[in-house]
Amino acid sequence: MSDWTLQSWREKPILQQPTYEDQQLLKNVEEKLSKYPPLVFAEEVRSLKKQFADVTEGKAFLLQGGDCAESFAEFNADNIRDFFKVFMQMSVILTFAGGKPVVKVGRIAGQFAKPRSSDFETIDGVTLPSYRGDIINSIEFTEEARKPDPYRMLSAYNQSAATQNLIRAFARGGFADLRKVHRWNLDFSAGTTADARYQQLSDKIEQALDFMEAIGITSETNPRLAQTVLYTSHEALLLNYEEALTRQDSLSGKYYDCSAHMLWIGDRTRQPDGAHVEFLRGVDNPIGVKAGPTTTTDDLLKLLDTLNPENESGKMNVIVRMGADKVGEYLPPLIRAVEREGKKVLWSCDPMHGNTIKTASSIKTREFHNVLKEVENFFAVHQSEGTHAGGIHLEMTGKDVTECIGGGQQIGEENLSSRYHTHCDPRLNAHQALELAFLIADTLKAAKK
Ligand code: PEP
Ligand code: CO
Repeated sequence: MSDWTLQSWREKPILQQPTYEDQQLLKNVEEKLSKYPPLVFAEEVRSLKKQFADVTEGKAFLLQGGDCAESFAEFNADNIRDFFKVFMQMSVILTFAGGKPVVKVGRIAGQFAKPRSSDFETIDGVTLPSYRGDIINSIEFTEEARKPDPYRMLSAYNQSAATQNLIRAFARGGFADLRKVHRWNLDFSAGTTADARYQQLSDKIEQALDFMEAIGITSETNPRLAQTVLYTSHEALLLNYEEALTRQDSLSGKYYDCSAHMLWIGDRTRQPDGAHVEFLRGVDNPIGVKAGPTTTTDDLLKLLDTLNPENESGKMNVIVRMGADKVGEYLPPLIRAVEREGKKVLWSCDPMHGNTIKTASSIKTREFHNVLKEVENFFAVHQSEGTHAGGIHLEMTGKDVTECIGGGQQIGEENLSSRYHTHCDPRLNAHQALELAFLIADTLKAAKK
């Protein structure tokens, strides 16, 4: 890796960073973090990369999702459990519909730092630094709260470690048992009259499970049915934190960013010569890059060259977030350039960030039908290009929030303020996330043929 070091990003232009007042304190915190145990293990990262290679080749499907921004205030066992539960339910639906393994990656246990469209926020004539995520400052609108505080990196690390611990316990300890997850899906489809197809699909899964049981395949005889793996991921935005958690693997000599299994670069920090690309080109984790309507084919090819010079399969995930109406126009040229150059790319669809709107009363929201439409259009493009629609990347929660409009619960603009809890962008609630999984089942089935 030519002239890359853990610190080489510090010499490059960098966007979206806090300005810490006390540089000595920042340094002390970085040193402390760099001695803390890694949150993930290099061998796990390598195994995720193998699974990403399967997705790239069309042999598996990627389900990635979670909060837009995790927060200190909403950190509790119930939230983690409810997210885990819905995520497993979606995964069963998608596995059955697509007939392929689903690789599960949470936006969790580290998804704290947020890029902002403006460095400052003005309310009633008062201007303060923008909120940049709980790992940096606090959402409260006071001068003190908005000051970047290095100690917050330690709190974020501790929260991530505890979250990771509970996820591992759920994944191995029986909470992901296929029968149990399926029963939750039955409850969901029985409790909603929105669409008869939900019940039909659930019934088919029931038959498949009954058949398996009849021939002796149960979680008792086959413990794999009771266990799963949920990988972790976040946007690698705050590089001080990422650097401090990056470790050299004693087996391979390679560097791994051990703050999560997978990291991605946001749409605002993907400059090919910028600090974020510089840092991530040196770590061996699978890397995502967001591609928005302004991503050119040149940019994308440069990014793929820099981040994946060996063109390794499973290394690069391009997360397409164009908007429901734009993906049909902007995605094909990117796919064609990648195909022409023979680059290995896992294409996934983020149907959230290109579909954000503001209501008349200035609440940020997204319409469920646009989210669904972007996924469908993304699949249609891949279908006509002869390439693989590899997965979806969602902002969602296991809670019954009211942040996105529409879906079977018919959440309207007037309902948004009742349970609008996100610290950043509007998330699909548990009901909407499950519906989305049921609704794209047909698309997945069609792609299988
Ligand atoms: C995000 O994923 O929360 C995000 C900020 O996305 P993007 O970089 O695509 O705008
Ligand atoms: Co977001």
